[in-house]
Amino acid sequence: MSFASYIEKLLETANSKEEARHAAQQLICLYEEACKHPNGLFLELGTDRGQGSRAMLAACEKNGASLVSIDIRDCSGAVTSDRWTFVQASSTDRDYIVTQAPALLGGIDLVYVDSLHTPEHVEKEVYAWFDLLKPGGVMFFDDIDSGPYLPAARKDNAMMEIANARIRRKIEDIFYANVDVMDLSMIYGSTGLGVIRKRNGAGEGLRPLPPSRRRQNIFMAKISRRLFPNQYRNTGDGSDFLIPLS
Ligand SMILES: C[S@@+](CC[C@H](N)C(=O)[O-])C[C@H]1O[C@@H](n2cnc3c(N)ncnc32)[C@H](O)[C@@H]1O
Repeated sequence: MSFASYIEKLLETANSKEEARHAAQQLICLYEEACKHPNGLFLELGTDRGQGSRAMLAACEKNGASLVSIDIRDCSGAVTSDRWTFVQASSTDRDYIVTQAPALLGGIDLVYVDSLHTPEHVEKEVYAWFDLLKPGGVMFFDDIDSGPYLPAARKDNAMMEIANARIRRKIEDIFYANVDVMDLSMIYGSTGLGVIRKRNGAGEGLRPLPPSRRRQNIFMAKISRRLFPNQYRNTGDGSDFLIPLS
């Protein structure tokens, strides 16, 4: 099937009532974002059978962009295209990957993170590649939604439920530690898609993550509220966070 036919198939599925529409919608997101970057450069972390590769290469064939795909296994036969480079490596081994695809050093427009689904690995991937992401560029993250894996859901799977929730929290933690340089949104359904967009004019690098400060204990929260009833106080006129109405 040609890349263009694959996109037609995805669009058909994305508009259907089938559960597969969520997966198709996520791949269409990749395709539509890639279409916005004529002559751009895209990086895929985790290639496997090349679903994401096909979606992005469909855009590359239209707009002259190129895709570099990474996998720890040999996935060099996943797709065939002049606009495609495959590198067999761990997705965090930036030093080696850029020797094989030096164009990446000139800046990346889109990174699709879909390799080893642990929060630790995803964090390493973000810190390995974010500084090469161009301002306005996007990082997509597969596997951030636990919903399909909840008890009694179709894919009921405790390991995946917990893993995806931990990855989503990790991405949120990275966002809150670097809120001035990125925007974050999440698309739910299927395995979910996290979307970080590097803000225009943003600095190059990322701040390191502080230790997690999430609170879980509602009993301690109630005690804290008793002891410090005015923890949140809006002391000003709100002009620092509200948009003026007139
Ligand atoms: C979910 S699949 C990728 C699916 C692919 N993006 C697609 O759209 O069809 C995950 C892939 O990540 C690869 N992988 C696992 N650990 C990796 C690592 N440390 N570095 C690079 N790839 C890795 C696996 O070999 C597997 O092919």
